[in-house]
Amino acid sequence: MAKLFSLFFFSASLAAVSSTTIAEIQGPAWQSPLVGQTVHNVTGTITAKADNGFWIVGEKSSDIRVSNGLYVFSSSASILSSVTVGDAISLSGRVTEFRSSSNPSYLFLTELTSPSNIVRLSSNNTVTPVVLGRDRSPPTRYLSALDIGTDGFLSVPNNSSRIEQVNGTLQPDRYGLDFWESLEGQLVTIPKPTVNGFQNNFGEFWVHGDWPVTGKNRRGGLTLHFGPDGIPDGNPEAIMIGSPLDGTKNPQPALGVGLSDVTGVVTYQFGFYYVLPLTAPEIISRPDATIPATTLTASRGLFDVCTITFGDYNVENLSPKSAHLPTIASHIVNYLKTPDFMFLQEIQDDSGPTDDGTVSANLTLSTLVKAIFDLSKVTYSFASVNPVDGQDGGQPGGNIRTAYLYRPEVLKLAKAAPGGPTDAVKVEGRWLAPELNLNPSRIDPANAVWNATRKPLVAQWETSLGINLFTVNVHLSSKGGSSSTQGDARPPVNSPVDVRTGQVDSVAGFVKDIFEKNRNANVLIGGDFNEFIQTRSVYKPLLDTGMTDIDEAARIPATERYSYVFDQNAQQLDHVLISPAIQRRKVEFEHIHINTWSPSLSARISDHDPSVGKIRLC
Ligand SMILES: *[C@@H]1O[C@H](CO)[C@@H](O)[C@H](O)[C@H]1NC(C)=O
Ligand SMILES: *[C@@H]1O[C@H](CO)[C@@H](O)[C@H](O)[C@H]1NC(C)=O
Ligand SMILES: *[C@@H]1O[C@H](CO)[C@@H](O)[C@H](O)[C@H]1NC(C)=O
Ligand SMILES: *[C@@H]1O[C@H](CO)[C@@H](O)[C@H](O)[C@H]1NC(C)=O
Ligand SMILES: *[C@@H]1O[C@H](CO)[C@@H](O)[C@H](O)[C@H]1NC(C)=O
Ligand SMILES: *[C@@H]1O[C@H](CO)[C@@H](O)[C@H](O)[C@H]1NC(C)=O
Ligand SMILES: *[C@@H]1O[C@H](CO)[C@@H](O)[C@H](O)[C@H]1NC(C)=O
Repeated sequence: MAKLFSLFFFSASLAAVSSTTIAEIQGPAWQSPLVGQTVHNVTGTITAKADNGFWIVGEKSSDIRVSNGLYVFSSSASILSSVTVGDAISLSGRVTEFRSSSNPSYLFLTELTSPSNIVRLSSNNTVTPVVLGRDRSPPTRYLSALDIGTDGFLSVPNNSSRIEQVNGTLQPDRYGLDFWESLEGQLVTIPKPTVNGFQNNFGEFWVHGDWPVTGKNRRGGLTLHFGPDGIPDGNPEAIMIGSPLDGTKNPQPALGVGLSDVTGVVTYQFGFYYVLPLTAPEIISRPDATIPATTLTASRGLFDVCTITFGDYNVENLSPKSAHLPTIASHIVNYLKTPDFMFLQEIQDDSGPTDDGTVSANLTLSTLVKAIFDLSKVTYSFASVNPVDGQDGGQPGGNIRTAYLYRPEVLKLAKAAPGGPTDAVKVEGRWLAPELNLNPSRIDPANAVWNATRKPLVAQWETSLGINLFTVNVHLSSKGGSSSTQGDARPPVNSPVDVRTGQVDSVAGFVKDIFEKNRNANVLIGGDFNEFIQTRSVYKPLLDTGMTDIDEAARIPATERYSYVFDQNAQQLDHVLISPAIQRRKVEFEHIHINTWSPSLSARISDHDPSVGKIRLC
């Protein structure tokens, strides 16, 4: 930096010369105050080069909102070959706010385009990176000041304002997006990074460094959780690691893996802030490879006749020919310990993704049952309702549905009378003895909220003692079409949150019908809700009936509640809710992290973790 300082002294002494600093270009807000203007004699030291530009760092601003780093865009081979990392240069260019045309929900990147008058002032300079966790630390709770509502970044209405339009001044001490924006274009070091999850299709992944974090789980990741003020905390302190700038390849990481320090430049692309490493980091530690099996097993003692165990597992597009079917069976046997019954999601029809009009899943389910038997000598029966061909969403041709496996020596369907795909379940029976008209059957299949998606599968079970249990197996509409947590839309688009709310309301209607006959009925709702419990607006209709989140009832630590990892967050899409009668008795529950703890993405069997619960029905 010594050479750079003498240069600034030199420029300052020539009052007639017009020059612009990088800090003046960046300014304290989202958009540059100089956007659209051509600026001259911008000086800085080159910190990194890419295929279509390079980064420069200028004199540090005393205002932490203002970055002194800048990306210079150029695809000119002669320009790129004329500059070298370590060169102090001066140049002219046009201040531009760039957003890839592919997605209007991305933020803009401030850059200098059409660079010209590039003069090398000196070479072999070094730039000292900003060491995160020492010089600056990201805020740990909120993403953006515009995430207004009691559910924070998960609030509805979603997409009600836009960062770039509001163009507020940055609040980097409070909001994560503002923090990373205030470092845009700078060279930073991430000390001792810990990986938040697997890489994406481009070999990019999220980390947090050696700085204060919230939501840290025992594996080393960061869990989406409620902050101390009750606002959901989406872990703004995490950052994505992009492709290394020197052409080396990132390692293939996993949740909790430790890496060597990363030094790189901060940028924004594809909807997220990134650090682009100068060179690929190395894996220096891995979490314990052991994945504990459940401790919750059925005990069949004389004094235990009321106890029942269950599992819940989204088995990711399972068909009779799925290569992962034997491993799913081994998970059910070795990790879930063959619970008394299972909530399964994503059971495909007997012809899998072949779109041939097949809707039955008998072969899929009996193949799974046989694979479980071969490993354990436990024989499950199964129950499901076939959908109308092509009407329940998911992989085309697959006709995914939810299904139950159950151990007939423990449970049977009470008065089995299976419904058809378009039959709506009704709650009949006497006061204190609700009964389903059809068993198993589906909730309100004609309701528009269930259009093009899986209908919830209801069943009424009876134990050998004659105790009844009602279950609902759900797989709500997925989050496809949502915008990124670091995107322009605030709160981010949570697609289709209004549909999921309607779906939960439809399930709540069924639960209310049961409770009207018997407030003390045993009711268990399980499955893939495709929504976090922290999106309270979605769950309100069900929680209002008196149903409770089993994680809460079983006092699972907030940071250990996850069944899925997406972007920066370990998070829970899969839930079990229990009725007040079950809640009043002893409730046990465990998340079995077979998949989120997989040593590599390629070794992972399903994108969801299963869970196991143990409840008392009397
Ligand atoms: C840039 O600075 C140089 C001196 O370093 C000066 O000769 C030149 O006129 C300046 N350019 C502009 C456009 O002000
Ligand atoms: C953004 O805010 C900055 C700082 O207040 C201001 O200088 C700039 O003109 C604004 N840009 C736009 C496009 O509103
Ligand atoms: C830069 O430093 C390297 C060694 O560190 C040296 O070989 C080279 O000559 C130097 N270049 C200039 C322009 O000083
Ligand atoms: C969420 O945003 C989408 C896209 O703008 C919009 O269609 C939908 O109505 C919003 N829903 C809620 C509940 O805010
Ligand atoms: C979000 O709202 C804007 C209007 O402010 C609209 O143009 C955009 O399409 C919406 N985003 C989505 C994903 O619907
Ligand atoms: C599927 O199995 C059930 C009994 O488990 C049987 O009633 C039904 O006919 C079978 N369907 C097909 C298509 O084989
Ligand atoms: C149901 O969903 C399909 C596919 O998304 C759509 O084409 C159709 O218009 C929807 N129908 C209703 C009644 O919403």
